[in-house]
Amino acid sequence: MRVKDKSIIVTGAGNGIGEGIARRLAEEGARVIVNDIHVAHGEKVVADIVAAGGRASFFAADVTKSQDMQALVAAAVARHGRLDVMVNNAGWTHRNRPALEVNEDEFDRCYAVNVKSIYLATVHAVPAFRATGGGSFINIASTAGIRPRPGLTWYNGSKGAVITTSKSLAAEFGPENIRVNCINPVFNPDTGLSAEFAGGPVDDARRAKFLATIPLGRFSSALDVANAALYLASDEAAFISGVCIEVDGARCV
Ligand SMILES: NC(=O)c1ccc[n+]([C@@H]2O[C@H](COP(=O)([O-])OP(=O)(O)OC[C@H]3O[C@@H](n4cnc5c(N)ncnc54)[C@H](O)[C@@H]3O)[C@@H](O)[C@H]2O)c1
Repeated sequence: MRVKDKSIIVTGAGNGIGEGIARRLAEEGARVIVNDIHVAHGEKVVADIVAAGGRASFFAADVTKSQDMQALVAAAVARHGRLDVMVNNAGWTHRNRPALEVNEDEFDRCYAVNVKSIYLATVHAVPAFRATGGGSFINIASTAGIRPRPGLTWYNGSKGAVITTSKSLAAEFGPENIRVNCINPVFNPDTGLSAEFAGGPVDDARRAKFLATIPLGRFSSALDVANAALYLASDEAAFISGVCIEVDGARCV
């Protein structure tokens, strides 16, 4: 049990990568708060984890709203007595299309869900971490933040902000034993955002285009990302902060 009894929040855990992270952390002994705005999805993930013998509970919160984020952190402290790890996974993208065709509402939503959420998580979780002498943030960024493709410009920029912000927070909060790390997954064709990244249904032609850029010859899975998150959440990573783990099959273009 690599994260036994740790109190961990996973945002956007009702589906996709976040769901995979919540399941994997629970398998390794964590007490997980499954967060999402989609209540039915989040409750289903909790039911599955509990049925498998894990410990999890649901908390509905919109990560773009300060009051919601405050309540989410408070729920972890109330239910578990402490907060050890916060996985900022909830994310959103505009559909893959030329930069000038993305409207202002889409831009604002992208930055609210992907970047403002990191600000709000920091504001509300740091006091909880301080109360117990430390903690760990794991921010799900993307290869998009370091090797941007055309068509996802505003999303790419938001993930670049996640990466730089995480490194800065790691430097600032290191003296308080608060670690901040990122994970950069490459394309996963099986999540709620996949068709948006691909610019349409993930058909054979779109799959082939993405696959050609991944030397290890397959896409990332939620489990690949979850295993990296498990490491960063565990005490094995006690001296690891300010890094981005690229879970991308050596994507080089
Ligand atoms: N799928 C990929 O190819 C890929 C690649 C790299 C990075 N990522 C990142 O992985 C993370 C998870 O994405 P995914 O692909 O699993 O997508 P997904 O849509 O399957 O899951 C995202 C979840 O976040 C929830 N969510 C959205 N807005 C929210 C909000 N305001 N508050 C709380 N929850 C909210 C959604 O309801 C959904 O359940 C995102 O940060 C995404 O940018 C995905």
